[in-house]
Amino acid sequence: MKLSVNLPEKTPLHGGDVYHLARTLGLDLRELLDFSANINPLGFPPGIPGAVLEALPEIVHYPDRRCLALKEDLAAFHGLPPEEVLVGNGSTELIYLAARALRPKKALIVAPAFSEYEHALSAAGVPAAFHLTTEAQNFTLDQPPELQAADLVFLAHPASPSGALLGPDLLMEVAARIEAPGAYLLLDEAFIDFVEEASFKTNLAQFPRVLILRSFTKFFAIPGMRLGYLLGGAGLIERLAAVQEPWSVNTLAQAMGRACLRDIDYMERTRVLVRRERQRLLEGLAALPGLHPFDSTVNYLLVKINRPDFTAASLQKALLAQRIVIRDASNFRGLDERFIRVAVRSREENQRLLEALGELLR
Ligand SMILES: Cc1ncc(COP(=O)(O)O)c(C=O)c1O
Repeated sequence: MKLSVNLPEKTPLHGGDVYHLARTLGLDLRELLDFSANINPLGFPPGIPGAVLEALPEIVHYPDRRCLALKEDLAAFHGLPPEEVLVGNGSTELIYLAARALRPKKALIVAPAFSEYEHALSAAGVPAAFHLTTEAQNFTLDQPPELQAADLVFLAHPASPSGALLGPDLLMEVAARIEAPGAYLLLDEAFIDFVEEASFKTNLAQFPRVLILRSFTKFFAIPGMRLGYLLGGAGLIERLAAVQEPWSVNTLAQAMGRACLRDIDYMERTRVLVRRERQRLLEGLAALPGLHPFDSTVNYLLVKINRPDFTAASLQKALLAQRIVIRDASNFRGLDERFIRVAVRSREENQRLLEALGELLR
């Protein structure tokens, strides 16, 4: 049965606002098919419930505020010393922490981008400038940005929301150009797990002013748990750790992180599944009249609506009537009402999206 959908006009700031949507539509959360947040379609690793049960008796203590065991596991996993890892309550906490702790005079955001960079800078009282990438560039950086006197740069790798990788030579050049005048680079690799071999982490030793941001949210499908981390030079990590709120990472999250890192088989299954289903979804979307999906390396696709009878908001609303949630991407700086973003989910779920879109657009 189709729902009648009456939603406030304002575009939600983020995808995944499913609690609010379900309440507004009078539905149970589980009735919504959410393509607006980009979460591993396999769900979380199977070892998580056991790890939680095992750690549960420990919640009578404060969490290990240094996250030592998880930090050591992360260090071993990435081939770095534990001093070069800082764990946080989701990577978003670490974005706010970096904006505060590095005390930049001015920041530069390569856009379109995750909106929390801008909010974190504003909360820290730091003015922000923007380097806008264009559609002709697939909304992906193709040369080092002008610093515009900024001493902190936010850059996503892969680009968000286009999902394209930046290329190793370009990244080296960008990092060198940013470090030369003494600026910092926060390289957001929240989605790099899908293409781990492309991570900039192997170059960290050369760049003491680069921080790499990572997240357990997307790849390990635990957005509700809040777990992320930074990789960077020991001096920089220590500086940030000194001003992080104590106990921000709870005991169960730490245990879950360790369980995630043990499951190599899950990681491989995820990469194979997402690669295969992304290609099918991309082809299915491209075959629909007036949709142009951008090629991606991760578990989401940016899509342009090339027809006058639909906007991102009207398409979103029409799909919501069928309990399908997509991300209206019009509020990304540099995009407009012609852009949506969809997650890559399971084959059956992607098929449901394609069929619903087909009905609307054909
Ligand atoms: C590019 C990017 N970076 C970082 C984050 C923050 O993720 P989390 O705080 O869940 O780790 C998001 C979330 O949507 C994102 O899209």
